[in-house]
Amino acid sequence: MAESEDDIEIARHMKPLQDVRVLDFTHVQSGPTCTQLLAWFGADVIKVERPGVGDATRQQLVDVPGADSLYFTMLNHNKRSICLNTKHETGKEVLARLVERCDVLVENFAPGALDRMGFGWDRIQQLNPRMVMASVKGFGPGKFEDCKVYENVAQCAGGSASTTGFVDNLPMVTGAQIGDSGTGLHLALGIVVALLHRERTGRGQKVLAPMQDGVLNLCRVKLRDQQRLNAGPLREYSQFGKGIEFGEATPRAGNDSGGGQPGRILKCKGWEADPNAYTYFITQAAVWPRICELIGKPEWAKDPEYSTPDARLGKLDGIFATIEEWTCTKTKFEVMDICNPLNIPVGPILSMKEIAEDESLRKNGTVVEVDHPERGPYLTVGCPIKFSDHEVAVERSPLLGEHTLEILGDVLGYEGEELKRVVDSGAVGSA
Ligand code: COA
Repeated sequence: MAESEDDIEIARHMKPLQDVRVLDFTHVQSGPTCTQLLAWFGADVIKVERPGVGDATRQQLVDVPGADSLYFTMLNHNKRSICLNTKHETGKEVLARLVERCDVLVENFAPGALDRMGFGWDRIQQLNPRMVMASVKGFGPGKFEDCKVYENVAQCAGGSASTTGFVDNLPMVTGAQIGDSGTGLHLALGIVVALLHRERTGRGQKVLAPMQDGVLNLCRVKLRDQQRLNAGPLREYSQFGKGIEFGEATPRAGNDSGGGQPGRILKCKGWEADPNAYTYFITQAAVWPRICELIGKPEWAKDPEYSTPDARLGKLDGIFATIEEWTCTKTKFEVMDICNPLNIPVGPILSMKEIAEDESLRKNGTVVEVDHPERGPYLTVGCPIKFSDHEVAVERSPLLGEHTLEILGDVLGYEGEELKRVVDSGAVGSA
């Protein structure tokens, strides 16, 4: 049936997760990444924080004295904050009411903290059988399930560190927060799926995203390579061309490309002074003759020693050294301009400074300037997922307890004497 103009207009004004209310018990990075996404999708996210303390990141890596840190502000946009002492009797009463009136509870406490608070899964289900209760933990069930975990621990335990870095050097963690933000993304997907399931069954469920599992999911090509080792050396790894023997486990691959199309980071014009004057260059088989032409080696296109991917594998060091002689004569942006029309895949190594100033990222709402009453304007990363019917407006993070009274009234229905009793109990706090 064809949609009417009115239907389309109504759809455009509805947010994808409109009417979904989230009890946000998250802190630090992994959980807040997840609930920030839900807020951007249109959910009403209520962040529960300890009175006078709040999320520890508010006061970590402080750059403007007296103001919430960028660590906090950049992970908690579009949320509301209520200060609630959940270990206080009246606080527990308020929390129970929140559980009854929310659709999703998200938490990333250390294992057992919610049970100690008196709000384990049994109690939650009793209060609200439709509740989706979503958790980030360091590890899934098993011998490490009780451990506290931070980003780099997850990167190490999930297989990333052992496969990152150079073959003759230490294991290395990456700058991308695949343990925290990566797991937050996984959890957000799990929550949306559980909500869809609830639509059909009327039942809530528990959703768990362990950080180790999330990192491993992002490293699955390395487990692929672990099994390929049984069939012999990994010929696309540059250590093969260098004659370095393979051991029992997937080795660190430096900047080798993870797929079947060999790639490396190569110097560009200005590399002597600029630590980011480099390009990633992929010798995709389909465009090999064009690469040969470009770097002044047209004869390599037909020479059987170079013309097939297989023939090239053992000679990648020499091939990339020759390509680098060419890239060194161009800036990383000139390399882009020249290679892209030829369909040769390349990518400039962009610094955070360049990204902060990138016009397209600003225009697309991926790098956004937000104003904040305590710290003034700052840059943040907006929603990285774009919808045709939903534009995400990035709103500043809440001050500690900024919405306590609003939530007690509008969401929980406290008023008059009852509201006074809760406020006077000392279990809540406001900005
Ligand atoms: N009112 C009263 N108490 C509160 C509260 C509130 N509103 N919010 C939290 N608390 C309490 C908790 O109940 C807990 O108390 P308990 O230990 O007496 O049971 C306490 O605050 C601290 O919570 P916890 O999660 O243990 O914080 P931590 O600072 O000791 O540990 C982590 C931090 C991140 C290591 C830990 O939370 C963790 O391992 N989380 C799971 C994995 C994860 O997400 N890691 C990545 C973080 S980016």
